[in-house]
Amino acid sequence: MEKTVTLSCGSRMPLVGLGCWQSPPEQVTQAVEAALDAGYRHIDTAYNYLNEEAVGAGLRNWLAKTGKNRSEVFVVTKLPMIGMHEGGVEKFLKRSLKKLQLDYVDLYLVHGPVGLIGKDEDDVFPVVDGKLNVDFGTDLIAVWKEMEKVKALGLTRSIGVSNFTIPQLRKICAVAKVKPSVHQIELNAHFQQHDMQELCKSHNVAITAYAPLGSPGRKNLSGCTMLEDPVVRLVAERHGVSSAQVLLRFLVQQGIIAIPKSVTPSRIVANNDVWKFALSDTEMAALKSLDKGPEGRTFVFATRPGLADHPECPH
Ligand SMILES: NC(=O)c1ccc[n+]([C@@H]2O[C@H](COP(=O)([O-])OP(=O)(O)OC[C@H]3O[C@@H](n4cnc5c(N)ncnc54)[C@H](OP(=O)(O)O)[C@@H]3O)[C@@H](O)[C@H]2O)c1
Repeated sequence: MEKTVTLSCGSRMPLVGLGCWQSPPEQVTQAVEAALDAGYRHIDTAYNYLNEEAVGAGLRNWLAKTGKNRSEVFVVTKLPMIGMHEGGVEKFLKRSLKKLQLDYVDLYLVHGPVGLIGKDEDDVFPVVDGKLNVDFGTDLIAVWKEMEKVKALGLTRSIGVSNFTIPQLRKICAVAKVKPSVHQIELNAHFQQHDMQELCKSHNVAITAYAPLGSPGRKNLSGCTMLEDPVVRLVAERHGVSSAQVLLRFLVQQGIIAIPKSVTPSRIVANNDVWKFALSDTEMAALKSLDKGPEGRTFVFATRPGLADHPECPH
């Protein structure tokens, strides 16, 4: 099967990418190199992850080592919530490019629909009196117009959003001159978001699934058992692969982009080794039946003190 999807803007985006959230700078440089060595051509980071310099170093090392061209790797980063104000998009994208040591990224995403007010550019999750310092003036349409501008400037090849609700995505698509090419959302076998999938399909917006393995390494995450699910295990045994490979194949076989995070070399290799087997219709149906609906969501904005007060808080 194809290992890429063609975005509405014409770019080709690899279906598997390396996630970099919670990858410490001292580990992520090697993780990026290991991923590129293993055949990945897509790296997902964000200004908020505070590791863009180290991600850029991994990419640069690999390009120097292999003599390959920068254009072979699809690099994604994201607008921090403290950049959701007038002039913020170009300013923060240029900061990301400087950290990554790149002239352009392949995809720039609005990380979330809620603006925050930071005391400076490093204050990515500003807290005042125990609550995140939300910007009640967040104007999603104005932010999107700035996203269109940075695309026109050539600072990014494509633009998209992340963590938007159905009404928020509809609103952007209704007014956009350039529609989002990608929506990055939590999506996995336990939380399949079929309504969002339908909406994205109708607007030709590709989906990137974050937490494709259920984000098992996340602190304070109770009950994330997807890798141990008996159905997933059974399917894995039948194909002689791991549960993680089944969960990733389940996504890419539906044309959904998946960005498993790992800093473990053997897992990095295995997570991109999902092309030599295919899930049958019966196996796909069994995995689809694992959907828990809204209860399957584990990334909930409103649990962060202060965010629930914001009118655009997505969930
Ligand atoms: N847009 C957003 O708001 C948003 C939110 C969350 C995540 N993301 C993006 O999506 C990426 C993926 O999400 P995620 O990091 O939350 O979750 P994930 O990719 O589902 O899970 C990552 C965890 O699984 C472990 N792991 C990786 N491969 C494994 C394997 N084959 N077997 C067993 N365990 C394995 C990793 O450990 P080791 O590293 O120790 O191997 C890590 O603890 C992020 O890194 C980030 O780039 C975006």
